[in-house]
Amino acid sequence: MYQPNESRYENMEYRRCGNSGVKLPILSLGLWHNFGDITPYGTQQQILRTAFDHGIVHFDLANNYGPPYGEAERNFGRHMDQDWHTHRDELFISTKAGYDMWEGPYGNFGSRKYLISSLDQSLKRMHLDYVDVFYHHRPDPETPLEETMSALDHIVRSGKALYVGISNYKPAEARHAAEILSELGTPCLIHQPKYNMLDRWIEDGLTDVLREKKIGCIVFAPLAGGLLTGKYLNGIPEDSRISKDPRFLRKESLTEETLRRIRTLKEIADARGQKLHQMALQWVLRDSVVTSALIGASRPEQVADNCEVVHAAPFTQEELQAIEKALQ
Ligand SMILES: NC(=O)c1ccc[n+]([C@@H]2O[C@H](COP(=O)([O-])OP(=O)(O)OC[C@H]3O[C@@H](n4cnc5c(N)ncnc54)[C@H](OP(=O)(O)O)[C@@H]3O)[C@@H](O)[C@H]2O)c1
Repeated sequence: MYQPNESRYENMEYRRCGNSGVKLPILSLGLWHNFGDITPYGTQQQILRTAFDHGIVHFDLANNYGPPYGEAERNFGRHMDQDWHTHRDELFISTKAGYDMWEGPYGNFGSRKYLISSLDQSLKRMHLDYVDVFYHHRPDPETPLEETMSALDHIVRSGKALYVGISNYKPAEARHAAEILSELGTPCLIHQPKYNMLDRWIEDGLTDVLREKKIGCIVFAPLAGGLLTGKYLNGIPEDSRISKDPRFLRKESLTEETLRRIRTLKEIADARGQKLHQMALQWVLRDSVVTSALIGASRPEQVADNCEVVHAAPFTQEELQAIEKALQ
């Protein structure tokens, strides 16, 4: 039987999520990759246990994580039964709907029909009575935002989620969504955008909206799927994402320009006596508007390694400037 590390809360930092009552660990674990049918159950279990043992109490899922779609939630349901039921109140679990999930007109985007039925399915797969956060996974250009937000409000009132969030919403959409939710009386807890050293779009307006509306921010892919570990600087390792599961990260992303930037960043990290991926995580967390960095991991050792960021020395102005220059 799993006995969690008793000092798990001593080595993690927790940040308040917007102006809510919730704090999140500065690193959270996502189950997008490595929790489907191509990863042994035992590896998944060790990744989850290692995360919790390091104080990572937030696990992030979505209806279509796999492969195949739904499989990460189904596997998580097994992990829930085996390891986590007795720790449910220590965990913050999220899921989402918004991308394609099932065939026909009701299995995609942002209708009330899709969101409510998808969450019902997710809860069954995960063996949960409720999730802590339910997200609308991406904006829907056709469904009125009022319908999508009122579905989120309904979900909270029905007790199936404690909080709601939005993901991949641009600044104006995020502002509008937050205003509708606030009128409905269900505040938007959190936004989940992509953010890393190689993709800084949120700096162009979104962080201002989140600060102004006092919404938390959990940034996904802070290591750019592994590029910012430096593992691709000398070719493509056999046990890497590009080799094993290139659905979303392809060798075409290894351009000369990207590799040049990563090489310079690695030199800065070396000079700090830090691993590149730890520096990349620390960098996304440098602005306190970011509540948490949402990492993935294919092995438990990676989780432990990434948690070293908690003990990192703060950046000097010179280091931040050197990073800026490397990213230009
Ligand atoms: N809302 C959205 O639309 C959306 C979209 C995408 C992701 N997400 C969320 O964000 C989470 C994280 O995304 P991501 O997996 O792309 O994040 P990431 O942290 O940028 O990349 C994770 C990958 O980097 C490698 N890695 C991590 N730590 C390492 C270490 N210490 N040493 C060496 N390699 C390391 C591993 O890949 P290898 O296989 O190479 O070992 C790992 O699977 C997802 O699980 C999901 O919850 C949300």
